Amino acid sequence: MKFSGRSFRKGPLHLRREMISGLEGISAEDFAVSGKDEELLDLSDVMVEQAVGYFGVPLGLAGPLPVDGKELMIPMATEEPSVIAAVTFAGTLCSRYGGISTRASEPVMVAQIFLEDVKDPGNGCVDKVLESRDEIRLQLAPLLETMEQRGGGWRKLEARWIAPSRTLAVNLQIDVRDAMGANLLNSAAEAIRPLLEKITGGRVLMAILSNRSWNRTASARLSIPVGILGRNGFNGADTGRRIVRAARVAREDPDRGVTHNKGIMNGISALALATGNDSRAIEAAAHAYAGRYGPYHGLSEYWVEEGILHGSLEMPLPFAVTGGAVGFHPLTRWSLGILDNPDARGLSRIAAALGLAQNLAALRALVSEGIQSGHMGLHARRLAYAAGARGADIPLFAEIVRAEQLRSKEAAFRRFSEWKTSGKIGTDIPKSEAGENTEETEPDIPGGGRL
Ligand code: MEV
Repeated sequence: MKFSGRSFRKGPLHLRREMISGLEGISAEDFAVSGKDEELLDLSDVMVEQAVGYFGVPLGLAGPLPVDGKELMIPMATEEPSVIAAVTFAGTLCSRYGGISTRASEPVMVAQIFLEDVKDPGNGCVDKVLESRDEIRLQLAPLLETMEQRGGGWRKLEARWIAPSRTLAVNLQIDVRDAMGANLLNSAAEAIRPLLEKITGGRVLMAILSNRSWNRTASARLSIPVGILGRNGFNGADTGRRIVRAARVAREDPDRGVTHNKGIMNGISALALATGNDSRAIEAAAHAYAGRYGPYHGLSEYWVEEGILHGSLEMPLPFAVTGGAVGFHPLTRWSLGILDNPDARGLSRIAAALGLAQNLAALRALVSEGIQSGHMGLHARRLAYAAGARGADIPLFAEIVRAEQLRSKEAAFRRFSEWKTSGKIGTDIPKSEAGENTEETEPDIPGGGRL
């Protein structure tokens, strides 16, 4: 799905909403739920306990991002400026060079049952559990029946003796297809508690899914000529070389690795929120994966071969398209609709592409002009808002903030009051001052794609 790039990016918000509501299969009604206070209050009340309201997080559409031959607009719910512009920028870089290609594993999740005081500690109890595999599977058959019909269900049973705490860990692998799987996994783990106690003579300590999600990964790959990385006076080949080094540093220095991965998660968590997925589960799995070889490291890799910069990312991405808040909150249905209603693996693949795009844009900015200058456009708009500008006056007054290089809220507020009393609001600001002639005042991509 593609929007006419520049007018979508640069036009006013109401115009973007009009463009979206005209799309086939996208209900303007669903989207408008964001404006219906009472509906959202009811939604809050049924989604969480002790609800008192709802907290609006900005929702944007990043892109187009070329993923596996499709031009996708990616719904992102985020409070952070520049991350959406950054994805759009990376999408532009990749679109003429084959886009981003992705893969995903089967959606297998793990439930864990821990037992204490077992009769035969060590290998003995491990063997007993493994020998009872068929009986355990049989016991779970009714619970897993629907999932088996969908092509998922039972995959594997493992057991391990944890010597220091003298605890038996039983890991149950289940393919959860389009769900996140928490309910099914927790129900399955609890359902076999009595049987495991009988088999081991021990007592169940706890039964719960594992968020490690090692078996539910997705990966993304891109290749672009280094020449197109040249921007604002920075040489493309050198920028490519420096991106490779920056990613390597993130693999060798954990302090940097965490920030590098935080940038990747800027995109992935925003997609998780926009689609109602459990962003904490996805974050936890990502960071655990980054420490899987010992020291924490950056998740992406880059290398240059014959003038082409290659980038790749692989990580757990336990995204769902049904269950929990996914599909229940109307905006999550809207977000999935914008993405052409992928299945869970498809959504994980989009998330992997998004994470890599976000990372590429961040690294490119970091090794060239830095990230601060890219924030100035939105900063001016925020200052205009903080000073009291609303609606059509925001872009008008933001131009003044920018032109006069106003830095503090106080200065902006004073200037806004002056502007207001001079009766200029929304009236006689010249076009270039009103931000319509943005071509001259800022790069084509908002924020210059700097994050
Ligand atoms: C900021 O939200 C994200 C970055 O710090 C990511 C990075 O450093 O790679 C710019």
